[in-house]
Amino acid sequence: MPVGIDDLAIYVPKLYIDYKDFAEARGIDPQKLEYGIGIKKMALADANQDPACMAANACMRVMKKNDLNPQDIGRIYVATESALDESKAMNSFVIGMLEQVYGEDSLEHAGGIECKFACVSGSYALYDNANWIRAGENGDKSAIVIVSDIAKYDIGSAGEYTQGAGAVALLIKNNPRLLAFDEKVASTIIKNEYDFYRPFGKETPLVNGVYSNLLYLIQVRKALEAYKEKAIKQGYIKLKEGESITDHIDYINVHLPYRKMGEKALAYLLRHEWRHLPRWKDITTHLKLDEPIPKDPRGTIESLLADTEFMKADEKFRKEFMKTTYYREVFDKKMSSSLEASAIIGNLYTASMYMGLRSLVEFEFGKGFDLYNKRVGFGSYGSGCSAMVFSGVFQEGYKEIASKMNLDKEIGTRTKISINNYEKLHSNTKKFDEAFLSAENEFILVSIGGITADRAGFREYCYAS
Ligand code: CAA
Repeated sequence: MPVGIDDLAIYVPKLYIDYKDFAEARGIDPQKLEYGIGIKKMALADANQDPACMAANACMRVMKKNDLNPQDIGRIYVATESALDESKAMNSFVIGMLEQVYGEDSLEHAGGIECKFACVSGSYALYDNANWIRAGENGDKSAIVIVSDIAKYDIGSAGEYTQGAGAVALLIKNNPRLLAFDEKVASTIIKNEYDFYRPFGKETPLVNGVYSNLLYLIQVRKALEAYKEKAIKQGYIKLKEGESITDHIDYINVHLPYRKMGEKALAYLLRHEWRHLPRWKDITTHLKLDEPIPKDPRGTIESLLADTEFMKADEKFRKEFMKTTYYREVFDKKMSSSLEASAIIGNLYTASMYMGLRSLVEFEFGKGFDLYNKRVGFGSYGSGCSAMVFSGVFQEGYKEIASKMNLDKEIGTRTKISINNYEKLHSNTKKFDEAFLSAENEFILVSIGGITADRAGFREYCYAS
């Protein structure tokens, strides 16, 4: 029996920063943000919101949408890199919030954990929960995996224009309506790295931006190599002479710290996959450029970055390649729809690839394409670092889900915030009761720490109806 994603729901805070205001405040060309990064609006958490209440809001939406009772759910996992406590798991906060609505102890049977591995942990959580169902441990219950994050960088840093906030809740079950995971193909790569990390007590990450971009590409490519072997062995894909695995994957959905990263990842993967095929000769002839070769044939990340001549030539080649019809055709057909949401929401860390899936389904369906039986390949990346490549196939029931999707409606009426007010939120100087927007039908944070010392660190939430 296939296992996969039956349905999903999103929660995105209604406050946002407009890229033109941001560019003006930081003295950046707005075209760099719009085209170089690919951002127009960055979602921003209000003073009374945190990753736990966003996760609970997304979870309740998926439950309500599907008329699910607590008894229908056997597990709730939360994957995040915005942990609120060094010990207490975020799913326990989520359970507490949901039980305010569904009744005391109504979800006491729904075990789970908080998962951490930067942006890739949601994919591990999905894989583990799919296997929990495949093993028959679930009885007749489903699992919910929630990915929720606030991407927050230092003011004035290059990461500041790749911020965002939001959550996606994924309902995992047997015979899913939306997407069935391909079995025995999920492939992972792991390495001890410091491309992007957040030491204890620090609210914003320490980032080596250029290094992290290249590491993302290399690690996803390695995971794709491992995936390719498994997908061929399992018989999902049969490669004929001159073909690439990318010819057999209908949609490509990757981790999206920002929209442009998706475009660049596709270029990198296509170059790698096509380099030894007859079509590559046509491409380089068309470009009138040979693909640059690094001085050090081992091609380690350190040697590549130190080889400035190669890096410059390679950037030039990549940019020219991205202008060709060879690239554009694949991009338009297999990736473009998954990037729409990223441009108007921003980075969601763990949730960004799953918001990409949400975007792919809504916008491809909206363009009139039939997704049934189409295979989507996922390229998940988490700094630190690990990559996971896996795939799934859209099921017949997807139309029921896709036809009801409406990103604008689901986000709700959005409010643009001034840079001055954004900076107040960024510095955490606003109190919970000083939120810019009044909450309606959602969970909000009302206090941290009680009046007495024995309640230090307690986080309290309520459902604002
Ligand atoms: N008009 C149009 N485009 C312009 C422009 C202009 N006036 N000026 C610059 N650009 C383009 C550049 O040409 C460049 O395009 P290409 O990528 O095609 O070369 C693009 O804008 C970005 O400009 P820079 O190369 O100058 O890069 P930057 O200094 O702005 O930094 C960044 C970009 C490294 C992504 C930075 O935002 C950052 O450090 N972000 C956080 C780290 C990150 O997101 N890493 C991604 C991989 S790690 C990961 O994925 C985990 C995670 O979620 C964080």
